[in-house]
Amino acid sequence: MYRIGEPEMKRLEKLIQDGGVFRYGRAGECDTFERDWGKHLGSQYVRMTTSGTAAIYCALIGMGVGPGDEVIVPSCTYMATALAVLAVGAIPVIVDVDESVTLSPVASEAKISPRTKAIMPVHMWGLPNDMNAFMALAEKHNVMILEDACQSVGGGYEGKMLGAIGHAGAFSFNFYKNMTSGEGGAFVTNDEAIFQRGSVASDCCSFYWNPKEHRPEAQFAGLNFRATEFSGAILNAQLERIDGMLGVMRGHKQVLLKAGEGAGLSKIKDNSLDYGCGTTIGFNFPTEAEARAFSGRLKEKKVGNFLPMDTGRHVYTRWDPIMRKQGAHHPALDPFKLKENQGCNMDYTEDMCQDSLDILNRTVLIGMHPDNTAQRVEAMVKALEEAA
Ligand SMILES: Cc1ncc(COP(=O)(O)O)c(C=O)c1O
Repeated sequence: MYRIGEPEMKRLEKLIQDGGVFRYGRAGECDTFERDWGKHLGSQYVRMTTSGTAAIYCALIGMGVGPGDEVIVPSCTYMATALAVLAVGAIPVIVDVDESVTLSPVASEAKISPRTKAIMPVHMWGLPNDMNAFMALAEKHNVMILEDACQSVGGGYEGKMLGAIGHAGAFSFNFYKNMTSGEGGAFVTNDEAIFQRGSVASDCCSFYWNPKEHRPEAQFAGLNFRATEFSGAILNAQLERIDGMLGVMRGHKQVLLKAGEGAGLSKIKDNSLDYGCGTTIGFNFPTEAEARAFSGRLKEKKVGNFLPMDTGRHVYTRWDPIMRKQGAHHPALDPFKLKENQGCNMDYTEDMCQDSLDILNRTVLIGMHPDNTAQRVEAMVKALEEAA
């Protein structure tokens, strides 16, 4: 979490004084956030949820993904991306990332099969995917794109907003994200059918709360991931800050990348340097030993950094329920066992994405912070140069 304070407290105080803490029956905080977040992104429809995982799950249901379908996911993402695919009954196909630490469009195309229904580029650590390449793949192979923008709230790609480029996008507002209400999420789309189906998945009574949307033929048994007015209130306050914070971090990122390159480091491929979140900079090294030595020296100089390989559940080899093929709580619901999914690509081995493991082991990422002062950035530049 970057910032939280007075504006959030004021909105929460008002909400509690008014007593209208349920999102429906009033034009309240969630309605306001859904409208304003949609405007901010250029997305026609926004549905808040209780988490990013719920947002991905609802968007997949909105897109009609289910048993018999494969969904391409990157080898490096928080495992919820892949688990949400299983939760809707489909099979995640795990594909290499490239030097940008995001999904490789080339490796993705090689894994597209007649069963591929969707591709999920994940904008990890604020770093955008090559969205032009993915939208071209979508067109060429008639597959849908669901952007997992959980780690890139507020970022862009070549003038467009992340999450609003594909057929749908999903956001998380948990504690670690660029905007946070502690927990929370939203999915967005310009497609009314995706929105309607996703809304039923997010709230089994959504059509009851929104009588204007009543369409019995589109209704099925959904669950409840309904957002609270408390989340809405906090996010409305956070939305006021996001552009300013990301702008500051983008500026710091440019300074530090320039310094790194000047010191002989090679920056990671960046698919949209001017528009990405600016929250992370990265350098790659010829070998893991060199990456680890650089990382250690930088830590000694009090500049936090990490190798993506060391980030636990962000690497496919650590997605235990998938690697062990435990796809559901009950065997009869387990996508790995469903007859519809037999013939899907579900051969998972530790070394199946060797290129990813190589890249993730010799890349060093450094986090930015909007509160870093000019002196702090100068100290980081010096540390980078010395460590290089
Ligand atoms: C890339 C990615 N996808 C999905 C999620 C799931 O979001 P949540 O924790 O809000 O369910 C996260 C959360 O950390 C994430 O980083």
